[in-house]
Amino acid sequence: MSAPLRLGLLGFGTVGKALVRLLQAEAPRLARQLDVDLRFVAVASRALGRKPAEGLPEGARVTDDLLAVASSPDVDVVVELLGGLDPAGPLVVAALEAGKSVVTANKALLAARGSELARLARDRHVAFAFEASVAGGIPILRAIREGFTGDRIDSVSGILNGTSNFVLTGMARSSRGFGDVLAEAQALGYAEADPAADVEGTDAACKLALLARLAFGQEVPLEAVRTEGITRLQPVDFVYAGMLGRTPRQLGTARRLGDGRLLLSVRTHLVSNLSMLARVDGPFNAVQVSTTRGGDFVFSGRGAGGDPTATAVLADLVEIARRGPSSGVPPFGAEAPAPFAPAELTDSVAPFYLRFVVKDRPGILAELASVLARHDVNVDAVFQTPWSGKTALPFVVTLEPVDEERLGHALVELAALPFHVEAPLALPMTP
Ligand SMILES: NC(=O)c1ccc[n+]([C@@H]2O[C@H](COP(=O)([O-])OP(=O)(O)OC[C@H]3O[C@@H](n4cnc5c(N)ncnc54)[C@H](OP(=O)(O)O)[C@@H]3O)[C@@H](O)[C@H]2O)c1
Repeated sequence: MSAPLRLGLLGFGTVGKALVRLLQAEAPRLARQLDVDLRFVAVASRALGRKPAEGLPEGARVTDDLLAVASSPDVDVVVELLGGLDPAGPLVVAALEAGKSVVTANKALLAARGSELARLARDRHVAFAFEASVAGGIPILRAIREGFTGDRIDSVSGILNGTSNFVLTGMARSSRGFGDVLAEAQALGYAEADPAADVEGTDAACKLALLARLAFGQEVPLEAVRTEGITRLQPVDFVYAGMLGRTPRQLGTARRLGDGRLLLSVRTHLVSNLSMLARVDGPFNAVQVSTTRGGDFVFSGRGAGGDPTATAVLADLVEIARRGPSSGVPPFGAEAPAPFAPAELTDSVAPFYLRFVVKDRPGILAELASVLARHDVNVDAVFQTPWSGKTALPFVVTLEPVDEERLGHALVELAALPFHVEAPLALPMTP
């Protein structure tokens, strides 16, 4: 039997507790099948110094002193499951500097400081692993990092935030408003008490930045991901989307152009009801990888929750136990990532859905059409379902494919017209 790999756990919340339970259940199989012996020697979290907690690993010391565990001589691997930038960032640095491998699920920290931490790990000859940070239990980072080295990735896109997907699929099913379905998601434990990072797209943007770094070998900054949340969607958008044979889905997309520049966004798309993404329901995640030679690959499954996320953390620990700290493909898939090469808005071309809500009066359509024509934007169709009340009349104009710079200029002018009840909503329509 190999020597045990000694683990120090930082954070004993949803994922931390699930990991302890999971390792307890799987330790005999891991020992038998893979000759791997993983043991928690210390657990640190905020409340643990003060009050006893259930489900702690047997034999591990328990403390609220995070730094003591991150730098302890008897810890081989630090498992960071605190979340956030601080104190997680300094603790991960301390652990790496003390010569410990680190496993984390912290996408916010990785998006902000991932490259720096990976460099530090390389310099110290220790492992830095973070499979659990994107799409929970789906082994998408490992697949991109190691499974596609023989091909070229052209795009990575998908549903990266289960809370947003739960809200959108709930609105589609029940015609309820955004706030109502979000409250249900919170009651069921699919959304945090503060859901801002989920519904405003920043959680998905962190994940997309990581996916893009791995897929394209560039230093993709989080700020480069154009990010829009789902908070402006209304029940009427689901009615019009249905008329178009489509449904709203919040997608992260990263696409490499022929010259290597990257287009990155997190936003709501109207996807075809026939597409695979339209069938990804509730809190599930799905990632599509499109490659030059192999074509399209789809990974879907449970993208969050303690148990699925803990399986990804455990897979990283098993790999470190088996392969040692510094073997394999580098954490971000490139020995020396290339500088980020951003595409322009003019490179992003799609047919669009424009939803207006106006105080009704004659001549509105003609005014909208003349602004669009002035910017050389072609209208495809106009939709208006019967609606009671003239003070807030919603209707939709669909556009033929248009580049986003041109559309952006037109939207500024459209929004300045005096009859709007709220700003126009523009959503790209994808196959
Ligand atoms: N939950 C998921 O579905 C999921 C999925 C993928 C990735 N992740 C990632 O996994 C990580 C952990 O998430 P989680 O859901 O397990 O979070 P969580 O339930 O909030 O647990 C975090 C744990 O860390 C402790 N902690 C946080 N800040 C601390 C501080 N400053 N000092 C001491 N202790 C501190 C918390 O203590 P208190 O209990 O006292 O606050 C808690 O025990 C995050 O990076 C998250 O993004 C989570």
